[in-house]
Amino acid sequence: MSAPTEPVPTPAVVIRIAAGRPVRAVWVNELGGVTFEVGGTEFVKVGDAHLLAAEEPRLRWARRYTLVPEVLAAGPGWLHTARLPGYSAVDPRWADDPQTAARAIGTGLRRLHDALPVADCPFGRPSWVPADAPPADRPVVCHGDPCSPNTLLDDDGAFSGHVDLGDLGVADRWADLAVATMSLDWNFPTGGPGGFQEILLDAYGAAADVDRIAFYRRAWDGDQPAAG
Ligand SMILES: Nc1ncnc2c1ncn2[C@@H]1O[C@H](COP(=O)(O)OP(=O)(O)OP(=O)(O)O)[C@@H](O)[C@H]1O
Ligand SMILES: [Mg+2]
Repeated sequence: MSAPTEPVPTPAVVIRIAAGRPVRAVWVNELGGVTFEVGGTEFVKVGDAHLLAAEEPRLRWARRYTLVPEVLAAGPGWLHTARLPGYSAVDPRWADDPQTAARAIGTGLRRLHDALPVADCPFGRPSWVPADAPPADRPVVCHGDPCSPNTLLDDDGAFSGHVDLGDLGVADRWADLAVATMSLDWNFPTGGPGGFQEILLDAYGAAADVDRIAFYRRAWDGDQPAAG
């Protein structure tokens, strides 16, 4: 999953939504799904219909409590959202400043976990979280895919929002924290293994729970087509 390296054809639904405005492919995921930016103010995700159908109601629900994109429209295999201000934590502007990205990701997850009400959450656990997980340290509504690219930062490097909520659901907070810290190693390898983990956890406000981190990383690795 990364910025596209070769031209990506624009699907008919994106041409229709753009209605003459400029279109740019900004992201290709590991399943071949593509995110297009339209007119500089909107995004259209095109890809697996099942995954995008799961994301739409989660965005609509989470937006009542926290900073996630507004859904403008959706259909089979596509999801049209309004731009959330900010730049992905893996935007080149933070490449030389992983500490800023790690801090914002930790702050953002804390904001998300504090804001979303477990008791009112209509969604079950994230797809990759096993039913036989250890007793929760603290059950929260997890992001579900808390990899670095899914946190946005403002111009000053502060947390400004979350995207990619298709796997949002109730689980122990260590499900999110284990994957968020692991993802730093993929996206900011200059820190060496675990190099920026403490910064993320410090911004979140938790000390590493080594056993739960190991459990949820194994669960994630067992479920994903490839690390990235
Ligand atoms: N509404 C939005 N506002 C701002 N940025 C967005 C929005 N929607 C998508 N993006 C940008 O496009 C990128 C891809 O979107 P998203 O993460 O939802 O796609 P994905 O294909 O599910 O990602 P992944 O590869 O993590 O599975 C995001 O990292 C973000 O930079
Ligand atoms: Mg994403």
